[in-house]
Amino acid sequence: MRGFVSILGTLVVCAAFAASVRAGQLDDPATEARIASLLDRMTIEDKLGQLTQFAADLPTGPGTGRSDYVELTAAGNVGSFLNTADVKRANDLQRVAMTRSRLKIPLLFGRDVIHGYWTVFPVPLGLAATWNAELVEQAAAVAAREASSDGIRWTFSPMVDIARDARWGRIVEGAGEDPYLGSILAAAYVRGYQGKRLSDPTSIAACAKHYVGYGAAEAGRDYNTTEIPERLLRDIYLPPFRAAVDAGAATLMSSFNSINGVPASANGFTLDQILRREWGFRGFVVSDWTAIEELIAHGVAVDGAAAARKGILAGVDMDMVGGLYLVELGAQFKSGNVRMEVIDEAVRRILRVKYALGLFEKPYADDSVAARRAQGGSSQAPALDPAHVQLARTAAEQSFVLLKNEGRAGNTASLPLAARAKTIALVGPLADGARDMLGSWSGRGEARDVVTLRAALAGYAAKHDATLLYEKGSEITGGTDAGFAAAAEAVRRADVVILALGEGGDMTGEAASRASLSLPGMQEQLLTAVTASGKPTVLIVFARPLALASVAGKVDAIVQAWFPGVQAGPALVRVLSGEANFSGRLTATMPRTLGQEPLYYNHLNTGRPADRFDLTREAKNSDEKFVSRYLDEANAPLYPFGHGLSYTRFEYSAPTLSANSLSAAAMTDGSATLKVAADVRNTGSRDGIEVVQLYVGQRGTSVARPVRELKGFRRLALRPGESRRVEFELGAAELAFWNIDMKKVVEPAAVTIWIAPDSQSGAGAQFAIAK
Ligand code: NOJ
Repeated sequence: MRGFVSILGTLVVCAAFAASVRAGQLDDPATEARIASLLDRMTIEDKLGQLTQFAADLPTGPGTGRSDYVELTAAGNVGSFLNTADVKRANDLQRVAMTRSRLKIPLLFGRDVIHGYWTVFPVPLGLAATWNAELVEQAAAVAAREASSDGIRWTFSPMVDIARDARWGRIVEGAGEDPYLGSILAAAYVRGYQGKRLSDPTSIAACAKHYVGYGAAEAGRDYNTTEIPERLLRDIYLPPFRAAVDAGAATLMSSFNSINGVPASANGFTLDQILRREWGFRGFVVSDWTAIEELIAHGVAVDGAAAARKGILAGVDMDMVGGLYLVELGAQFKSGNVRMEVIDEAVRRILRVKYALGLFEKPYADDSVAARRAQGGSSQAPALDPAHVQLARTAAEQSFVLLKNEGRAGNTASLPLAARAKTIALVGPLADGARDMLGSWSGRGEARDVVTLRAALAGYAAKHDATLLYEKGSEITGGTDAGFAAAAEAVRRADVVILALGEGGDMTGEAASRASLSLPGMQEQLLTAVTASGKPTVLIVFARPLALASVAGKVDAIVQAWFPGVQAGPALVRVLSGEANFSGRLTATMPRTLGQEPLYYNHLNTGRPADRFDLTREAKNSDEKFVSRYLDEANAPLYPFGHGLSYTRFEYSAPTLSANSLSAAAMTDGSATLKVAADVRNTGSRDGIEVVQLYVGQRGTSVARPVRELKGFRRLALRPGESRRVEFELGAAELAFWNIDMKKVVEPAAVTIWIAPDSQSGAGAQFAIAK
């Protein structure tokens, strides 16, 4: 076993080296020399200034009462601003730094550019549902181009938190519940934002957040405590961060939550031991908004001085907004509590990123693109770049997940919309909610740039000689049933009904946890009222993953649409009409009911699994009763991870393996890998895209492994009748895990391998990892 470990150790060192090379400028000797000579000229006040970030204009957190930013900048007391209003404000502040401060160190401007800047894409959970890393990379590159033209050279993205509980509103900001997919997408975002070189003026530095475990918030309540054993941390929560670091992410953000009693923003184990020593990260860590100050509320610091000391000693380099590093660390240095080398190292990491971005050479943003944008908004001068809009439409189209398309008694599948549907009733508070389509963290996205479902369907109806009847029906939250009668009347006149329901754009994201996962307000009642007629009804849900069991049986088709961005309407019309096919797949489990949360596919098995029994009815005997189940609900989700339908069908052959057995030693050192393949055929009558998913389950190991783990996937376009062989390779990267001795190794195991359309189906093939 020790042999495997040392080989893996070598792999870790190689990976860290590769990462720093990809990070490029973060280990350039000439830059290091410039940093050293600059550090020599800096006073402690100058240094603490570099460690300090203030919010210039827009509040995206609790206020902190400072506004003397010009004076602070001139005095060299600030190294970075977040949330500048526009390029003029950024350039004005930069001019102060470059002309009035003693050392003329450029400011770094950051902002939450999460799923687009002016051109807003689907929220990240929607982007993840595309299972399309190339598209995610392109979307991030577009966001970088737009944000940088507004003076922003640093985004607080990607959010790579694993989320297993949909009560947590921030679930929409990340890639969902899976560390494998999450890692691939984390790297794609970083490549997209940072481009080939950070010094390219259209590149922006990425910030993988929230380091770490933030998504494990107890009871799904934002900012809440987490308890994450080290193995779970390393197997599930850390991998997407590692992938971001390996892809060259210049920065990370330390999170608000405590992990096993130690706040993540004062956590030497995660920030120093894992991030710096094990992974070789050379960029810098910024705290989340006032997270250093919040160490006091957490109870690990009695005052600001202790909070600042604990933060910097743990490895948080920049203090976002709280200002405690600026006011407290001087005294902490004088009293010997914080050594100058610690402060210097933090400054060095920040300057390294500023040099890499080319800010010393080119501190100002070219304001011509923003000026054009400001004048835009007509057909002569479109407000958004048409190529960016086109990409936003493609992304939205691929993000939609067709959850159900059955047709209730008597109805055939109600999608795609039949040409004979001459009257369409569009009902619901999300049908025309331009602002809501942008979701949370919408950058500088504007409602005027959104084409809603109502607008796009009106165009469709006009083209198809059909009539569109629109009724809002209810508000998103609260409200009354006053609009129900008009909605029911529209439905009575219609051939097909489209219900646009869900959450408001501001009901997900930060500080947006919910204790219910139902459709909010009066919407479920509205649905019940208008579906009583039995007309073919399509439900489109704009929301986080909700618990839809109580409504699913009342409609014929369900589309999970997330928050699709500026092209919500046109993209939806393309898939609803059948002009394009659905290809999105869930990356977060959709529960039947709230009480099942946290619910995720890659769970452990328990000693009393219940999967042999029908859990939709009461236990009939003690065998059925004394298993891990509920009295009043099944264990299974309503829609599992990986699920998504299309207008065609796909058939899978059983997986074939290149060997029945390989040795753990050979798999660990890379000399043996297993090839796995299956044939996938489009047996329907339409072109389609299948997301072919590879899962493994291991038994006989020193610690229990999840029932299934995703270890590969491919998006596969197939014409009707076409069949393609899909091949995967499994080696140490896929099969090693943190074992009983907390070593990452491949262990002897009985392995089941599935190539399947989702996390619950498919016939498994058996494989042995021998001693
Ligand atoms: C707090 C949020 O947790 C974080 O995601 C965001 O980047 C910062 N505020 C800055 O707005």
